[in-house]
Amino acid sequence: MSTIFGSSIGRKLLMSLSGLFLVTFLIVHLSINLLLLVPDGGETFNIAANFMALPLIKYGLQPVLFGGFIIHIIYASILTLQNNKARGNAKYASGNNTKDVMWASKNMYVLGITVTAFLVVHIVDFFVPLQITHGAASVTYDGVEMHNTYALVNAALSEAWRVALYVVGSLGLTIHLTHGFWSAFQTLGFSNNIWRKRWTVIGIAFAWIIGLGFAAIAILQFAFYQ
Ligand code: HEM
Repeated sequence: MSTIFGSSIGRKLLMSLSGLFLVTFLIVHLSINLLLLVPDGGETFNIAANFMALPLIKYGLQPVLFGGFIIHIIYASILTLQNNKARGNAKYASGNNTKDVMWASKNMYVLGITVTAFLVVHIVDFFVPLQITHGAASVTYDGVEMHNTYALVNAALSEAWRVALYVVGSLGLTIHLTHGFWSAFQTLGFSNNIWRKRWTVIGIAFAWIIGLGFAAIAILQFAFYQ
């Protein structure tokens, strides 16, 4: 086992599996965040968001999620160092001819750092007050007390600089995904000449839906929900 994940293909395999796992997280996260746009003062969003506080999620799924991020970042660093050493200027040859995908493939690590930098601010904004310091206000619906996650998000997204940061983070994520999505399927062997083109198109569409979704929510909260 240790030799598989120590080899170059093994590392790419771990990158792909952890990447696709993070993709499923993004789908769930964006779906819940869309509830921020329900005009009910945040009740629907709060009820959905508070399932994150359930012990099964908090102690079961969240460590797996953070583990997924850590594996993805560590193996990305190892692979990038390896590629830089081995290939000189032809660093991250992707074999994919779409212009923006080619640009993304060459800049995956820089894009990853941009998304990670955004994530650090993001975790301090929300995860820390909600899950660690419990500094967020509470609200009660039908006798059930929970965090007022909506109020926290709404206050954070009332500041233009933070909205700009969320837009940059979301667009960095989009470009990262335009390469990462099809590349993961290629590494896992679900790709041939026809399917590589299909995965590229599906990946680009998915990346823009996710990125524009997060960016639009931040802008709409700032513009219409204050
Ligand atoms: C409009 C944009 C976004 C909003 C309003 C938002 C909101 C939130 C909130 C409220 C939490 C805390 C959930 C909790 O712990 O109860 C959270 C956590 C988190 N978000 Fe976001 N998010 C946004 C975009 C993103 C993006 C683009 C990413 C990925 C690149 C991301 C990744 C995460 C991660 C990793 C966590 C910590 C794990 C968790 O608590 O689920 N978020 N987000």
